[in-house]
Amino acid sequence: MSDSAFHYVDGVLHAEGVSAASLAQQFGTPLYVYSRDALTRTYRAYADACAGRRAVVHVAVKANSNLAVLNVFARMGAGFDIVSSGELARVLAAGGKAENTVFSGVGKSAAEMREALEAGVKCFNVESIPELHALNEVAKSLGKRAPVSLRVNPDVDAKTHPYISTGLKSNKFGVAFSDARATYREAHAMPNLDVVGIDCHIGSQITEISPYLDALDKLLDLVEQIESDGMSIRHVDVGGGLGITYDDETPPDIGDFVRALLAHIEKRGHGQREVYFEPGRSLVGNAGVLLTRVEYLKPGEEKSFAIVDAAMNDLARPAMYEAFHRIVPVVKRDAPAHTYDVVGPVCESGDWLGRDRDLAVEPGDLLAICSAGAYGFVMSSNYNTRPRAAEVMVDGERARLVRQREDVRQLFAGESILPD
Ligand code: LLP
Repeated sequence: MSDSAFHYVDGVLHAEGVSAASLAQQFGTPLYVYSRDALTRTYRAYADACAGRRAVVHVAVKANSNLAVLNVFARMGAGFDIVSSGELARVLAAGGKAENTVFSGVGKSAAEMREALEAGVKCFNVESIPELHALNEVAKSLGKRAPVSLRVNPDVDAKTHPYISTGLKSNKFGVAFSDARATYREAHAMPNLDVVGIDCHIGSQITEISPYLDALDKLLDLVEQIESDGMSIRHVDVGGGLGITYDDETPPDIGDFVRALLAHIEKRGHGQREVYFEPGRSLVGNAGVLLTRVEYLKPGEEKSFAIVDAAMNDLARPAMYEAFHRIVPVVKRDAPAHTYDVVGPVCESGDWLGRDRDLAVEPGDLLAICSAGAYGFVMSSNYNTRPRAAEVMVDGERARLVRQREDVRQLFAGESILPD
């Protein structure tokens, strides 16, 4: 396992000091399990590398928005990166502060802008000219000035999966690099906007530092032009995107990554600016696993299947991106392994969690799907009218239920049948 928060003790998988088998027994499966210690360590790695610098970590809420997870970060003084007013509500409910929150996203509605302005978010990361106009209008109607940064698309190749690469010209995200300077001038001319920063986000699960340095070079060139046009750029937001080890990837260490970017900014003569980070996956990805129970084994001529009680509605990443998640037994068996596709009960061929996995399992056994802390529960759905999983946070020897398993009745509580 890539993270020592999850480890074996006498052949039984543990989350910190708690056996995963006992968690499954107590809370049922499918079950998301998070380690507070792992969350704390990744956050500290960012925060320590930022210490003494004008650099701020904004946790990307979209990666894992459970209130307990956000609260662990809020207690350590984290800022947050949100993409909806729903996420803003979660941040506030979890003890985070609006004045430490940046609002990203390509399609903010006027209502969302209003809520965020009233709450007092630190900055809007704006992605288009129409959005600038909309924000200016909303700010005017409230008698406020909205702090803005433009998300610039630096057109660099993040060398990651096309679905999660966002910094190329062909993506829907950000203002095209060639339009950015003129767009800044427009923003500057709008009376209810306050230009404060610049930002980019080039993709996700990035395992090299070089695309970030390329993006930074382009951004900093632009900052120099914008300032020569009479605006002042207080902060540079480098986005999120640092990768984790799912299988055999070797992403840079968090501290090395942060230090390399800060050093580059300094070297370019921009050390006076505040630097924002927006990490998601690298904070939470390896701090969580999904526990599932084997329902049936189905041997076949070409393929054998291990049918488990978690499915694509619980963890969508394999179905959506053909993503790899390591799958390990909760209790190791001293028996020969067979090769299985690990699949869920949903009626779709795309409903798989792992392919061609060598496992020694029997029906009733528990498996852990690793690296499920990021984009796991948050992307889950109720497809096939499956209640969403419960979530548990382990802290040393203690485990707390931090989200109840959904009840089927909740799923259609808002629906009604026709009266006649
Ligand atoms: N900032 C912005 C503006 C973003 O769009 C994202 C992620 C982040 C920060 C955080 O990126 P991270 O550090 O987590 O890579 N569902 C996909 C990932 C989508 C990422 C979307 N944007 C997956 O499961 O791989």
